[in-house]
Amino acid sequence: MPKILQGSSSEVEYAAQALLRGNLVVIPTETVYGLAADAMNKSAVKRIYRVKGRPNNHPVIVHISDLDLLNFWASEIPKYARILATNFWPGPMTLILRSSINVGSWVTGNQSTVGIRIPRHIATVSLLEKFTQFGGKGLAAPSANKFGRVSPTLALDVFHDLGMDLSNKDLIIDGGPCEIGIESTIIDCTTEKPRILRPGAITLDHLNQLKINVETIQVSNKNKKSEIMTPGNLRSHYSPKAKIKIGDKAKMGEGFLALKKIRTPTGAIRLGSPINSIEFARSLYQTFRKADNLGIEVIHVVIPEDSIFSEALKDRIQKASTNNLYLKNPII
Ligand code: TXA
Ligand code: MG
Repeated sequence: MPKILQGSSSEVEYAAQALLRGNLVVIPTETVYGLAADAMNKSAVKRIYRVKGRPNNHPVIVHISDLDLLNFWASEIPKYARILATNFWPGPMTLILRSSINVGSWVTGNQSTVGIRIPRHIATVSLLEKFTQFGGKGLAAPSANKFGRVSPTLALDVFHDLGMDLSNKDLIIDGGPCEIGIESTIIDCTTEKPRILRPGAITLDHLNQLKINVETIQVSNKNKKSEIMTPGNLRSHYSPKAKIKIGDKAKMGEGFLALKKIRTPTGAIRLGSPINSIEFARSLYQTFRKADNLGIEVIHVVIPEDSIFSEALKDRIQKASTNNLYLKNPII
């Protein structure tokens, strides 16, 4: 079982050293919790895959402390990527860039690209700073959940999902509830114009405000070979045990999640009443987990429209609803 820390400066220093020794540390970020390892350490990163039960060919995001490290990890960085980085880092945005010769295949899943992000949760910012001071280059960290399941937004979720698979040398930094609650926006920066591969809190509007010309794509749901490998694009993802249905047709005894202003169908079990889409995103995965704990089998979700989080919410809820890894023959 891993040790839980609160993120004081001495604990952060201890965690940075643990990472450099090859142990795993669960890190709070403003999006979701991540399961981190020294990105330069092949066997430590391989352990992440084992703990998550994640297929080997799925790349992991490298979290860095400073823009200066971008040149260590990436090459041929387009100008627009630097503009994005300067404007939105630290923050909920991951850039996919051509990888440099320094990047191990254990990070990229053998692709020629690398995903990079500077997160902004205070404890993880300090951890990354310490880790860099001690000579580290970056932390490989996918979301700290079992493959295909709901991402964790509390340290307790991680303890519940992965506690048994982590050792007593591994650590969990408890940074409280995640501020945003859904994963970062992923932007492909390997083409002439950037493409949003996974919607998140940094939206098309944000990019347009910077006068960055975005190429809109319909990211394939079928995960075609030609597409960039993004597991968030597998048809089944973010799945609770409950079946997710989109809409307001909840029947007696079924779960119901919608904005506060929408009334509960007769007999349905109200799982949450967020007042706006920001709160909706922040509480979404907790609501999925709550439903599973209550043994609720079907959750009806009314997705909020016309807000900055609508795209991201639509993406996560549709993927959670399309399929379910708990089914006998999931299509992934
Ligand atoms: O908010 C987040 O992004 C969180 C926190 C912990 O930073 N991380 C996260 O990681 O969601 P993960 O591994 O659960 O999802 C990252 C996605 C995956 O779908 C992965 O395939 C994609 O990013 N990705 C990472 N590196 C990539 C690369 N080189 N090319 C294409 N996709 C990549
Ligand atoms: Mg994930």
